[in-house]
Amino acid sequence: MVRIGVKRTAPEEVDADLLVVGIFSGEDPPEGLSSAAQPAVGSGDFTGKQGQASLLYAGESLAARRLLLIGLGERSSFAPERLRRSAATAARRARTLKARSVAFVMTTPEGSDVRGAARAAAEGAVLGLYTFGKYKTKRDQGEEPEGFDLILGGAEDEEAASRGAEAGARIASGSVLARNLANEPSNTATPEYLADRAREIGDRHGMTVTVLDRAGIEQEGLTGLATVGRSASNAPRFIVLEHRKGGGGKPVVIVGKAVTFDSGGISIKPTAGMEDMKFDMGGGAAVLGAMEAVGSLDLPLDVVAIVPATENLPGGDAFKPGDVLTMPNGKTVEILTTDAEGRLILADALCYARRYDPTAVIDCATLTGACVVALGNHASGLMGNDEDLVAEVQAAGETAGERAWPLPLFEEYTEQIKGDTADLKNSGGRGGGALTAGAFLKEFADFPWAHLDIAGTAYGKKGNAYTTRGATGVPARLLVEFLIGRSA
Ligand code: BES
Ligand code: MN
Ligand code: ZN
Repeated sequence: MVRIGVKRTAPEEVDADLLVVGIFSGEDPPEGLSSAAQPAVGSGDFTGKQGQASLLYAGESLAARRLLLIGLGERSSFAPERLRRSAATAARRARTLKARSVAFVMTTPEGSDVRGAARAAAEGAVLGLYTFGKYKTKRDQGEEPEGFDLILGGAEDEEAASRGAEAGARIASGSVLARNLANEPSNTATPEYLADRAREIGDRHGMTVTVLDRAGIEQEGLTGLATVGRSASNAPRFIVLEHRKGGGGKPVVIVGKAVTFDSGGISIKPTAGMEDMKFDMGGGAAVLGAMEAVGSLDLPLDVVAIVPATENLPGGDAFKPGDVLTMPNGKTVEILTTDAEGRLILADALCYARRYDPTAVIDCATLTGACVVALGNHASGLMGNDEDLVAEVQAAGETAGERAWPLPLFEEYTEQIKGDTADLKNSGGRGGGALTAGAFLKEFADFPWAHLDIAGTAYGKKGNAYTTRGATGVPARLLVEFLIGRSA
């Protein structure tokens, strides 16, 4: 992985293959770079518009081999997310140029400190360079730079910048782990594979790992997971990771849906796009990625991660529409469609979370197509039973650049999932599909709880400055941000 450093030097004196400087709309380049950058700026070719990038060969006036100007947009609306994107753009350009060393001149957004800015830049650089290339036998996409140095030009605290850069790299590594897990196809990423990766995370960071196999799941009375996983030959796993660095008291619990392939089961999905259902474990992947970062940052907090993992397949032993399940909290559920499987395994996990007497529980799941219709790919749906917690999760998403937007859980949505034969039914019909799914989960959440529907954000057809096609790692960084906030 690229090494992120911090240096205090005048930009014109930095020895690097690629020197990168961000410039605000309509503003002049920093003094030392003005003779090199002036032709591009003065001609109007480079205006500082957000996302714009101009590569210059500066010659004598700079110690660096090349100069990349990056548009930062309007100064008044500059925020860490734009810094993250600029660093990603810089890192990607360095890769195509095969530049070994990058010097990225830091610009600290107003209202943000240099530590937070360095963190955002480091995240951008690492995430921008991410690719999932392991199954390509041939590839040529340049060479990843060895070093990416954040250059402090002014009076910024170097120590704080270094801490921020280090934290950013660790947080990004967690997101990379989440992306790698989610991009992995279902013939590799089975429930047992996820359990093995969880064991590795636990061993690396001194966490307690508990994995229940099929028999253990049945014994524990986790009906949803046992039922959904019954017909799968890759047997289900119930994965629990405990990070106990906050004194061993009441923890925050994070829960991630990990359906390693969702065919829909007996209520089978149409062929078109079904390959994307390998991403139906994106929630579990993000939770494991967040735990990797939590361990690596050694957060002084008690955190428990729960990942119910299974395939959802048709078969002679599969569950069927009309079946009635008795869930771990005693509530009964009539199955209307075996394709609404995520809420069944999440309900088990929420019931299981009760034993920790948690201060807060956040679950994340690629739960409904309806959420994608509501918010597209630009925000995760956010629901919950506690206003303050929902606001805290939303704020964490904003800071992390992983946006989550509140959706309502009115009583009427609960009415919509009241059952005829049983207490509840596992589908509330077409109207408000994301909200009836949330209302279903609420029936199992006996503590402050928030739910993130990441069906539209966990993966995508096209990336942005620091995501690629495929898994995004969302909401691993949101979760880490939330947990950092809770450990302060
Ligand atoms: N995994 C899907 C949700 C999904 C859909 C994720 C599209 C990503 C993209 C989930 O298990 C599912 O099938 N949900 C159904 C629920 C319905 C049958 C009540 C849905 O959204 O159609
Ligand atoms: Mn489904
Ligand atoms: Zn699913």
